Amino acid sequence: MKPVILAGGTGSRLWPKSRAALPKQFLSLTSDESMLQETLSRLDGTGAEQPILICNEAHRFLVAEQLRQLDAKHGGIMLEPVGRNTAPAIALAALHATQNGEDPVLLVLAADHLIKQRDAFHAAITKAEALATEGHLVTFGIVPDQPHTGYGYIQSGAELDGGFAVKEFVEKPDEATARQYVDSGKYYWNSGMFMFKASRYLEELEKFNPEILAVCKKAIASESTDLDFIRVDADIFATCPDDSIDYAVMEKTQHAAMVPLDAGWSDVGSWSSLWETAENKDEQGNVVVGDAILEGVSNSYINAEDRMVSVIGLDDVVVVETKDAVMVAHKDKVQDIKKVVSKLKAEK
Ligand code: GDD
Ligand code: MG
Repeated sequence: MKPVILAGGTGSRLWPKSRAALPKQFLSLTSDESMLQETLSRLDGTGAEQPILICNEAHRFLVAEQLRQLDAKHGGIMLEPVGRNTAPAIALAALHATQNGEDPVLLVLAADHLIKQRDAFHAAITKAEALATEGHLVTFGIVPDQPHTGYGYIQSGAELDGGFAVKEFVEKPDEATARQYVDSGKYYWNSGMFMFKASRYLEELEKFNPEILAVCKKAIASESTDLDFIRVDADIFATCPDDSIDYAVMEKTQHAAMVPLDAGWSDVGSWSSLWETAENKDEQGNVVVGDAILEGVSNSYINAEDRMVSVIGLDDVVVVETKDAVMVAHKDKVQDIKKVVSKLKAEK
């Protein structure tokens, strides 16, 4: 099994820590290791082959340095000249992995997730690998606890050995639909990790999105390697349609399977989810990172990077202080950080 680690996202919901130059996957948010490093360390003991990493060209030295810190061996760092979302990124990795006539089972992982129970994760991988070897495109399903609209939803069908067939995959439904799914008790969240034979992904992509595959094939034809980095043709890759694996393949394929995953998974999608998953809350339910003094504050997340932060008489707030920006939000409104980031981009 060959891991493919997707490290090309922008992580804008964790602004002001997560920046264009240093997105979420490269930050240490849940331990001393960065999210990317945790993703790699989490594979220890699985017997996985050396992973392929794929990221934006701008972050190549960050990735190389973070791998070096772990002394991690890898099977190449593929560089995207521009981000075209996960369907093309996975296509490039799958094409690269099949170049020598091989057809490995790929374990596609996001570089920015938290999984607390590694043993349970490893057990799910073993089940998924068997299904992937049979030709399924395997997802890992999480029992949902709220109608989150940022996730894919999976309805499980017939039982398979170690998992279920997927009856329906719906990427990011609206809130009313998500609520209906959660209430029905029949749906899981898609964790955003996948397992399939490289050839099976490429076949399904060809069926449903031939243009993405055609552009990726052309872009990789002139693949060049310097040091650890694998480059593709920038002009050709720039013409690739932008789409995620979820819309481009998983919603459409008839060969999806799902292995339930109960391993303390979180995609750390917002400051409030970081508060939720934190195990070091004080008696008032506050999580404090850095130097802060709180008076009459409860159920809040405070992260002070550079200066001392003081908060008085507030509940359910998020305060994130960095050298050049401070963000204060109600814990229920942290999704709106995306709006702030859009405004910032528009001003530039
Ligand atoms: N290399 C590369 N290139 N990586 C990318 C790109 C890209 O263009 N775009 C995103 N990624 C990486 C991100 O860094 C992240 O690790 C992973 O791919 C998933 O991308 P997100 O942008 O975070 O996806 P999402 O959170 O909106 O949705 C996905 O994950 C959810 C669970 O967290 C979907 O798979 C949903 O169905 C799923 O529920
Ligand atoms: Mg995500």
